[in-house]
Amino acid sequence: MSRQVRVELQPLGETFEVEAGTPLQDVLFAHGVEFPCGGRGLCKGCRVKVLQGSLPSTPEQERVLGRTGIDEGWRLSCQNSADENLTLEVAQWEATILGDHSKFNFTPREGLGVAIDLGTTTLVAQLLDLRTARVMAVRSALNPQARHGADIMSRIDFAVARGGHRELEQLIRARLGRLVSELISAAKVRADDLRHVVIVGNTVMHHLFCGASLEPLSRSPFETDQDGLRRFRANELGWNVGGNPAIRFLPCLGSFVGSDILAGILTARIHESEELVGLVDLGTNGEIVIGNRERMVCASTAAGPAFEGARISMGMRASTGAISEVHAEAGVLRCHVIGNGVARGICGSGLVDAAAAALELGLLRESGRLADERGHLSLRDSVVLTQTDIRELQLAKGAIAAGIRIVLKQFSAEPSALKRLHLAGAFGNYLNLASARRIGLINFPEEIIQPAGNSALLGAKLALFTHHDDDGSYRQIRERIAHHSPNEDASFQDLYVEHMGFPAFAT
Ligand code: FES
Repeated sequence: MSRQVRVELQPLGETFEVEAGTPLQDVLFAHGVEFPCGGRGLCKGCRVKVLQGSLPSTPEQERVLGRTGIDEGWRLSCQNSADENLTLEVAQWEATILGDHSKFNFTPREGLGVAIDLGTTTLVAQLLDLRTARVMAVRSALNPQARHGADIMSRIDFAVARGGHRELEQLIRARLGRLVSELISAAKVRADDLRHVVIVGNTVMHHLFCGASLEPLSRSPFETDQDGLRRFRANELGWNVGGNPAIRFLPCLGSFVGSDILAGILTARIHESEELVGLVDLGTNGEIVIGNRERMVCASTAAGPAFEGARISMGMRASTGAISEVHAEAGVLRCHVIGNGVARGICGSGLVDAAAAALELGLLRESGRLADERGHLSLRDSVVLTQTDIRELQLAKGAIAAGIRIVLKQFSAEPSALKRLHLAGAFGNYLNLASARRIGLINFPEEIIQPAGNSALLGAKLALFTHHDDDGSYRQIRERIAHHSPNEDASFQDLYVEHMGFPAFAT
């Protein structure tokens, strides 16, 4: 009887079983991994890092990957078979999850710390030496809750209407505990030296991790009183980490504005700015904060999942096979596909680009109507955008653009008053700014816009060094932040409709 082995691919978290001895090239290709030199062991494009299990090294692999690469656990997947259970990190997929390697000022402290960005889709964790702020190891993974819904509204539904809260809580606590253990093993440090863990995330992630009820967030007025700083010890969470480190989940800012935005305020230093500065996280739930050292206003606006490729007929995450860039050239659309293979779908950045390029070529009208009578826009291979996809994009970008205007109104300010606008999150980082401006998603001059990288993760790292902070809850900053609900603003609907159309010309 044949023996089955289990293969897990990181950082996207795909898991499957195959017959022992199956060449990895045969199975990985089906999961979107490309083999640029055709599996001849020449290009290292198919390299994987062995996180669990083992793959043999050979002189041929060492020639391509170098001694250091072999010692770090890298192997050529095209030269190996799955003979035992394996967890592999696929190098081609690294860019799909945003890490952080920024330099920052800090006051040294003893021990090691872990900073975690708990996203609805992805998780990123870094282990730091708190004496030097050096990043010693990085791990990322998909949020395992995603099997119960891609966006926060479906997680709330699963937790509240279908009684799944406890399951979601256990899934995320267990996965983060494993990430922390993997960091310690990867850096080859003593678990006893890990003293502090800081986690940031949106309000729903906060509640699901901390065990707070999501029921208040499932109905109007969507307000919760359980969104403060939460403290745990590793053993309370079932984490098997030697020194039983202290864990802090930083406080949220309002009903759907989480500590990821508080982290963004810290990294963009909005709370210290003399001028009006903004930060926007372009996710399913667009989170916005604008302000200065005197006063800040935050808000969230339901953009829907179009920017993450969801609810788009051929939408997908930014992984191998996704159209990630589109531009107009010599009267036609040119598409870039991640991995340079056959296009399998389109991700958020490709969607924004495609609409901008189609506007340029007259294939899309300002009203949002596709010029082609068949009601679709052909991109590459068999990938198309439909009229419904364009409508989803209009809803998403209209919600963000209107949300920003509503927050600016709280300062009686016109868009020109904003001196810097930071775009947070993976989508904001990879977004083509010219395209975002062309479709009216971001109506600000390019020179004031700054991709903020993974500001949530950086903010969590800053918080690892806040031992002089009052109680670690950033109370003094939070006292200056007001939460505003765009949906309750009389002008929101008009602004929303106004921003759903596409601008006639590039601004
Ligand atoms: S595909 Fe080129 S080395 Fe494996």
